[in-house]
Amino acid sequence: MLILRRRLIVLLIFVIISTILMLWPHYSLINHIDRILRLERIDQFIKDQASNLACKQPKLEVYNPDIMKLVKHVEPINCTKAGIDWVKCRGPECVIQESAKRKYGPIKCSFTDILRVDDYHLIDGETSYSSEYYKLEKSDVVRVSCQSADHKWSATLTGIRFTNDIWDSSNWEEMKNTALKMNVLMFGYDSLSKNTFIRKLPKSYEYLTKNLGTIVLEGYNIIGDGTPQALIPLLTGKTELELPDTRKRLKNTHFVNSYPFIWDEYKKAGYVTAFFEDVPTIGTFTYRLNGFKEVPTDHYMRPYYLASLGEQNKWPKLCTGDTPRHKVMLNTILDFFLVYRTKPKFLFGFHGELSHDDYNLIGAADDDTLNLLEELNTSGSLNNTILIIMADHGHRFADIRNTLQGKQEERLPFFSFTFPEWFKKRFPRCHLNLKNNSEKLVTPFDVHKTLQDILDLQYVGSSSTDQRAISLFTQIPTERSCADAYIEPHWCACLDWENMNLSSPLSQRLGATLIDAINNITNSHRAICEPLKVATLFWVMKLSPNKNLLKFSHNADIDGFVADLSANLQTKSDLYQIKVMTEPGKAIFEASLKHFNNNSIEIKERDISRTNMYKSQAKCVEKQLPHLRKYCYCKL
Ligand SMILES: *[C@@H]1O[C@H](CO)[C@@H](O)[C@H](O)[C@H]1NC(C)=O
Ligand SMILES: *[C@@H]1O[C@H](CO)[C@@H](O)[C@H](O)[C@H]1NC(C)=O
Ligand SMILES: *[C@@H]1O[C@H](CO)[C@@H](O)[C@H](O)[C@H]1NC(C)=O
Ligand SMILES: *[C@@H]1O[C@H](CO)[C@@H](O)[C@H](O)[C@H]1NC(C)=O
Ligand SMILES: *[C@@H]1O[C@H](CO)[C@@H](O)[C@H](O)[C@H]1NC(C)=O
Ligand SMILES: *[C@@H]1O[C@H](CO)[C@@H](O)[C@H](O)[C@H]1NC(C)=O
Ligand SMILES: *[C@@H]1O[C@H](CO)[C@@H](O)[C@H](O)[C@H]1NC(C)=O
Repeated sequence: MLILRRRLIVLLIFVIISTILMLWPHYSLINHIDRILRLERIDQFIKDQASNLACKQPKLEVYNPDIMKLVKHVEPINCTKAGIDWVKCRGPECVIQESAKRKYGPIKCSFTDILRVDDYHLIDGETSYSSEYYKLEKSDVVRVSCQSADHKWSATLTGIRFTNDIWDSSNWEEMKNTALKMNVLMFGYDSLSKNTFIRKLPKSYEYLTKNLGTIVLEGYNIIGDGTPQALIPLLTGKTELELPDTRKRLKNTHFVNSYPFIWDEYKKAGYVTAFFEDVPTIGTFTYRLNGFKEVPTDHYMRPYYLASLGEQNKWPKLCTGDTPRHKVMLNTILDFFLVYRTKPKFLFGFHGELSHDDYNLIGAADDDTLNLLEELNTSGSLNNTILIIMADHGHRFADIRNTLQGKQEERLPFFSFTFPEWFKKRFPRCHLNLKNNSEKLVTPFDVHKTLQDILDLQYVGSSSTDQRAISLFTQIPTERSCADAYIEPHWCACLDWENMNLSSPLSQRLGATLIDAINNITNSHRAICEPLKVATLFWVMKLSPNKNLLKFSHNADIDGFVADLSANLQTKSDLYQIKVMTEPGKAIFEASLKHFNNNSIEIKERDISRTNMYKSQAKCVEKQLPHLRKYCYCKL
């Protein structure tokens, strides 16, 4: 009896303690063990996946009707209501504008430096007065208050301060012989899938791909949800779980300075570095994480965005003075490149305000993004620069995520590389490999490795699937799977494929439909082209989004480490690929066909390819009807 009671008490105490621990998120030991367990589970999960399946990327229609329903045109942001800015900063120089003097008479301004204490605190520096101009030296951020005879104007402004420290500490000379010796400009928008970029920034996309020869990565797949989950691997080569714990809501965790950021490697190599990110209230490293104690890069825009937060209400919506707010960052990028024209530069810019909470608003930045690209080119800045235009992940708004294509697009953000014209000649292997890799499955880890290669290029041969991070300058194996690339199944956009029974009625129907479609194409030339029949059905393959992708609902925890797989998205159609040989002529065709839930089958001519040569078989159509060469077996 006594023993039983003692056990009961022990049990009771145990239950109470565990309850307290569970309800107490600040108890960091449990959270710490939890992190390790989660990391081990992900590692195991990845190992358990079959590792030799090639990744088949889904072909996602850019103008898919399900998604076009949500796409609306937006007008450019118009800030003329703000009147003219009295002072503007370009590079280190903040100049009182002649136009303002003409309008308001003589103007006198005070300029107060705003200094960073840490990621959450600022203090005022010295104040100077001038009626002409002010040079930024102590800080990139200055509070300006101006007065004319009967008007006032004030604003917080930003530029690129000039200091000998930064200037003298950077140079090309001491770089390794194996370095490419090029600037790196990475600029990204929040939440832009590859297709959204094409839909919402068509002019910029066109200029990149048509004029600048940009290579767009078609198989860049996210490895986790949310901006930190995208940017941490990109900038450190590691996942959050593999790095020191920096979560803000726990006690005694680290600042993110403990992360091995790529810009530190660039700084060490002799570069001037910059990290720009807007919307300080939801900063990638400050919202859920502790942020930076020491300033991360030579130029850092967070103090500007913090200091100007309070004055947003005094301007028209999305404006700061007479300038659309997103242009402040674009202008500062240009300034950074102009001020340090002769110096090695690494800049990572990330803009969130327009696209984080709105699917369409980013369209208002198309012209300005195009202008940025044009100015970078015409000013010569791109001539020695690797330009990386990118996004963290696709859109995450419920109405788009609820469609299958929306889910797939979320996993395939826009990611592109642009090289100067001469790069192809000087580094032909790098360029060819990167181009070849643009169709393959790649991740933020690979881009991180590529950024390291820019500083120290050792190898441009073929890589093996057992590396998690593969430089894009090397040859990535085609058989790389999501498991090889450390992508958990519910993030993997590659399609699963399943071999179908060739004798099943559906397989037979798919074969017959393909032949039907081919015969329809030659039908009006039946006098010269033989009708074809199926001779051999080699294989029929069903391609489907993997089950966990369909089931993924959202992350089950605030840190985004755990997936909730309770959604149940139904597909409207299944995609099949088949390979057949036909008679007469032994032509071999591969094609994709869609089988709808209502049992109808759809095939488009552009999804049919002929995989062996037609040689003289198509002689009768060669000259007059070249589009029929693939399909026509000439009657003698
Ligand atoms: C901006 O709005 C003003 C009227 O407030 C108009 O006169 C001007 O043409 C507009 N600018 C643009 C570029 O739409
Ligand atoms: C880029 O600028 C150069 C001159 O610096 C010019 O020759 C070239 O045409 C420009 N390229 C494009 C695509 O505008
Ligand atoms: C770009 O750089 C190359 C070599 O560094 C030089 O020959 C060429 O003139 C430059 N082109 C422009 C448009 O500045
Ligand atoms: C492209 O990559 C594949 C797979 O790694 C390789 O077989 C092929 O030779 C590459 N093509 C070129 C032109 O390098
Ligand atoms: C393939 O399908 C045929 C016809 O439906 C059936 O008779 C046969 O047993 C199936 N073979 C396998 C391996 O499932
Ligand atoms: C071929 O043409 C016939 C008659 O126009 C049509 O009914 C059939 O759907 C077509 N088949 C395919 C696969 O396009
Ligand atoms: C089956 O569904 C598809 C897609 O919803 C549609 O295009 C097609 O016309 C339907 N076919 C029939 C026979 O209802």
